[in-house]
Amino acid sequence: MNRITSFEEYKTEYKRSVESPELFWEEQAEQFVWKKKWDKVLNWDFTEPKIEWFVNGKLNITENCLDRHLPERANQIAYYWEPNNPQEKAVELTYKQLHEQVCKFANVLKNNGAKKGDRICIYMPMVPELAIALLACARIGAVHSVVFGGFSASALSGRIQDCDSKIVVTTDGAYRGAKDIPIKDVVDEALEICPAVEKVIVVQRTDTFIKMQEGRDVLWKDEMEKVNADCPAESMDAEDLLFILYTSGSTGKPKGVVHTCGGYMVYTHYTFENVFQYKDKEVYWCTADIGWITGHSYIVYAPLLAGATSVLFEGVPTYPDAGRFWQVIDKYKVNIFYTAPTAIRALEAAGEHFIKPYKLNSLRILGSVGEPINEEAWNWYNENIGKGKCPIVDTWWQTETGGMMISPLAGLTKTKPSFATLPLPGVQPMLVDDKGNEIIGNGVEGNLCIKFPWPAILRTTYGDHERCYQNYFATYPNLYFTGDGCKRDEDGYYRITGRVDDVINVSGHRIGTAEVESAINMHIDIVESAVVGYPHDIKGQGIYAYVICTNHSKDHNSLRKEILAEVTKMIGAIAKPDKIQVVSGLPKTRSGKIMRRILRKVAEGETCNLGDTSTLLDPSVVDEIKAGAL
Ligand code: PRX
Repeated sequence: MNRITSFEEYKTEYKRSVESPELFWEEQAEQFVWKKKWDKVLNWDFTEPKIEWFVNGKLNITENCLDRHLPERANQIAYYWEPNNPQEKAVELTYKQLHEQVCKFANVLKNNGAKKGDRICIYMPMVPELAIALLACARIGAVHSVVFGGFSASALSGRIQDCDSKIVVTTDGAYRGAKDIPIKDVVDEALEICPAVEKVIVVQRTDTFIKMQEGRDVLWKDEMEKVNADCPAESMDAEDLLFILYTSGSTGKPKGVVHTCGGYMVYTHYTFENVFQYKDKEVYWCTADIGWITGHSYIVYAPLLAGATSVLFEGVPTYPDAGRFWQVIDKYKVNIFYTAPTAIRALEAAGEHFIKPYKLNSLRILGSVGEPINEEAWNWYNENIGKGKCPIVDTWWQTETGGMMISPLAGLTKTKPSFATLPLPGVQPMLVDDKGNEIIGNGVEGNLCIKFPWPAILRTTYGDHERCYQNYFATYPNLYFTGDGCKRDEDGYYRITGRVDDVINVSGHRIGTAEVESAINMHIDIVESAVVGYPHDIKGQGIYAYVICTNHSKDHNSLRKEILAEVTKMIGAIAKPDKIQVVSGLPKTRSGKIMRRILRKVAEGETCNLGDTSTLLDPSVVDEIKAGAL
């Protein structure tokens, strides 16, 4: 691995990656096992978009994650699995055991009808079988589509239908903090409207009674007994699909972001090694859920590609108490810890006495991801967890980018609280104004775009390439538009200021306002709603909903409760509005467009400087909204 070891070297490598990107990435790709070498490094055209890396190369990512390490690392731990309940027995999986389990489950998938190219839906809590299931799909060339275990039956069925999954892998139930969650019941409900699903493979986690539908449902345990561990890795084209992951955007239903085998492998591995400066034998812990991109890239693929030892955690930061993260760090002597600002803020609010019992002296590097980290949380993390001696890497990236894009290299790049700092090699950011003109120089602010492809850029949105173009490549011609606003300070350091589109980032989870609105509008008494984000002390952003209710005798408290239930049913509890204001009208322009700017300001607590309201059809609604602001 050509790991960068100094800031000077970062600068030369960055320059090289811009001047000769093909040569640069070819060198990174050469260290992997390829079944056939590529003919050409890169084809690209952002106007379609069409992006191909390592053209005609053949590989299987699991050979690089697993088989490749067996001669040297067979008995090294790949995952320490830490259960939700600290009293329950933890599980260790070596590289050899993981390889065996993956090959066996790959054979189970084949026995149950899975073939190369099929889409397989995975809906599970954070158990070892989740990582095994992803890798087993990749082993046989099936495309995994993981759906976060907190999504509702309705959200799950939409995702199953969109990519036409014939197999679902799930569990009977889940433990999350003090809660027991009936996972299989959710799957059963979702499948009522997914007749195309032929098989459901169920891991027994909670050993609760579940209904098994004959002919469709089988138990993981029984199926694993029928197979051996011999499963050759399918030969995949570098541009064959590795996975689909649904994510929310400004409009419509969530879209299936598509990542492919070769570029994703090379890029996630490169960024993991360089950003975290991972050293052999270190213990690494990313607290994300595998249901999100952070878990795909930096719990499953990149750490295994690097031959790392990781902690896989089933629980939540506050169970049994707010010291759980720190207890787990001491237990496994974690060296690299990667978490989200929301967790940091929540644990800060819980109080320092939860940290006191723990040493935390194994920690070397701290990471942050998913949302802007405010200066106070950054400083608290630095002082109380890192004890002032662990570099913090604030990593900016997205589901669509596949891997980290703007981030310090731990210990090499000088950090600044709340700055993601500098682009990684291969990443060419550009700030543009609303008209698409480049904003040059430092001490400026604009919309963040990327002007050149990196190996893990999304290739399409599943089943709808036009949508991919419209969402990411149409706003500013020849640029990938991130949807984020960004400042570049006097030193050329980047600071992400948040979304500039209609996406809200709640506790690091992306939620589209349009999705929440359509869930709210399902309520029989609601004719229209508008949803915006507002600053929230712990979650980063909270969800503020303005609703128009036609039933004037309706009690507002019961209306609010019913709306929350509706959103939980349609999307999941993560999308529940924090505030719901009943209004008689929404501020609309004469052409019928809602002026969200005004609603955002009111939600932020700003009632004076609402800007120009003269184009509104009925300016008086603004006074009513201001008066009733929550
Ligand atoms: O707004 C940015 C924010 O999260 C968005 C991407 O969300 P998602 O696709 O769910 O991926 C999250 C994990 C990579 C971005 O458009 N975001 C992510 N990381 C940061 C961030 N905002 C500020 N700083 C970050 N480090």
